[in-house]
Formats: sequence, C-alpha cells, structure tokens
Amino acid sequence: MKTLLVYYSYTQNTGGIARRVREALGCDVAEIQTVSPYEGDYDSVVEQGRREVEADFCPDIRPLGVELSGYDRIILGIPVWWYTMAPAMRTFLTENGLAGKTVIPLVTSGGWPGHTVKDVEALCPGARVEKGVSLTFNGTRLATPERELENWIQGLK
Ligand SMILES: Cc1cc2nc3c(=O)[nH]c(=O)nc-3n(C[C@H](O)[C@H](O)[C@H](O)COP(=O)(O)O)c2cc1C
Repeated sequence: MKTLLVYYSYTQNTGGIARRVREALGCDVAEIQTVSPYEGDYDSVVEQGRREVEADFCPDIRPLGVELSGYDRIILGIPVWWYTMAPAMRTFLTENGLAGKTVIPLVTSGGWPGHTVKDVEALCPGARVEKGVSLTFNGTRLATPERELENWIQGLK
C-alpha cells in the first residue's frame, strides 16, 4: 500500500500534523499551494474565504509535482473553511480524480467541521473514503487529546 499525504494549510495547523504523519509512516507528502497567496490579516482572509466558499470558488493551485497514479492510499489534510474544505482543496479534488483509491480525510478545524467530509465524498466519485480523523485546534494549539491523534496515526500503519 503506497501512501501519499496531500494537504493544504494556511496557518500550518494541518501542515504540522502532516509532518507528524510523515515521520510516523514515512509516506510521501505534497502541499497544495495557491498561485495567488492569501494576503492581509487573518480576519480579512476569513472574510475572503467566506465569499469563496459561498461561490464554490476554486483558486488556481500550483502543480503538485507528484504522480498520483503511483499511490493507492491518499490522506487528505484539510482545513475547514466555513464548514467545508478550504477552497484550494476543492480545486485539487476537482482537478484530480481519485477513483479506485482509498481516501482518508484528515480534517482540522476550530471545532465546527460542518459538512466537510460529505463534501469531500461528493468530489471523490469511485474512491473509497474512509472515516479519517477530525482534529480540533484552539488557535494554533491542538485541543483534541494527543492520545487520540497518536492512536489514529498508529492505525494508519
Ligand atoms: C477562512 C477560514 C474559515 C474558517 N472556518 C471555520 C469553520 O467553519 N469551522 C471551524 O471549526 N473552523 C474554521 N476555521 C478555523 C480553521 O479550520 C482551523 O484553524 C484549521 O486548523 C486551520 O488549519 P491550517 O492552519 O492548516 O490552515 C476557519 C479558518 C479560516 C482561515
């Protein structure tokens, strides 16, 4: 089973978890980056995010630099923006079919993940979307018990 972790991260909560998963599993990791970076203070990005989510906007993203066909399991590192996946992840899933693969959502949020996993499932036709994990952050501090995260990571091995 060859695993790739694909993540987007604006404040690096998801990025930090991605690095831990990589250390534990030794899997390949790829970061989704928007062509135009989000600029301005946090509150203005939250507001821009709201407009983008409302419009189902898919920002342009940079080439990922990995060949997805080489992997059978994809862990998706997804920050929640306005109760769904951050727009950059929507772009990734819209541009890349994951049919035939096992998809594991790694969701991070401030505690209100909303309909993120359901929306991911809808964008992954033909994939087997597993339960995954939903982690809560209080700002940049992980509020989900460390043991829960560790158990989930161990279960991926
Ligand atoms: C534009 C925006 C919208 C957000 N919307 C939500 C939300 O609907 N529910 C929630 O629990 N947290 C929300 N958050 C908080 C993030 O989901 C949370 O901080 C996440 O861990 C950020 O991950 P990152 O650091 O990898 O970008 C939002 C953050 C941003 C920037």
